[in-house]
Amino acid sequence: MRKPCIAANWKMNKTAAETGAFLNEFVPLVKNVKDVDIVVAPPFTSLYAAAAIVSNTNVGLAAQNIFYEEKGAYTGEIAPSMLTAAGCSYVIIGHSERRQYFKESDETLNKKTKIARKHNLQVIFCIGESLEERESGRMFDVLKREIEEGLKEVEAAGIIVAYEPIWAIGTGKTATTEQAQEAHRYIRERLAALYGPAQADEIRILYGGSVTPDNIDALMKCADVDGALVGGASLKADSFSKIVIFNR
Ligand code: PGA
Repeated sequence: MRKPCIAANWKMNKTAAETGAFLNEFVPLVKNVKDVDIVVAPPFTSLYAAAAIVSNTNVGLAAQNIFYEEKGAYTGEIAPSMLTAAGCSYVIIGHSERRQYFKESDETLNKKTKIARKHNLQVIFCIGESLEERESGRMFDVLKREIEEGLKEVEAAGIIVAYEPIWAIGTGKTATTEQAQEAHRYIRERLAALYGPAQADEIRILYGGSVTPDNIDALMKCADVDGALVGGASLKADSFSKIVIFNR
């Protein structure tokens, strides 16, 4: 059985003080949740403040990015050991905003994934098609390429995949449950081709893109949806806690 994972991706939001205020409200709201892996991904500058509050709770800490070298002359980058020292046990890799605005290639993302796993960080590996790719019938090819290139020579353990159709991110347009399940099933098939069916069956596939307390229940009922990566609706403790405490 796959344990659901629900992760908050705060993107470029919240100072350290705002992070503290959120978590002091959020952690008590979800303290009894045992059947979901709960994760928050604040900006780098909030990680220490977040770790001070979530260590020894049921809330895990993620970074939103990582660099693929151990250390050195890479101005502005953050090394894997810095993330683990700051209390992270997860890292988001390959978010469409990184791919789009920062031109992160499949090859770069593969290197990031490899070094993250070397440091025992669980990787939330994001994939997803644009509207144009979907409408021109290239969606499955895009997902296949992103999986095969991004996870090349990476073992299945510690990998969580997040399917985030780009047209659904921050737009209020969620994929229908049929669209989500169709993509998730396809992703699991590709993972089975890569790792074999038994391991593919263990990998959690999260849905992301305009997830809210109102649509989480229906999404979680899809056979291959194992959780969510939540942007906008994760910025308020009240709404993110409602997503975590979805209707089982
Ligand atoms: P959204 O973002 O929930 O605001 O659509 C999701 C994401 O980009 O991870």
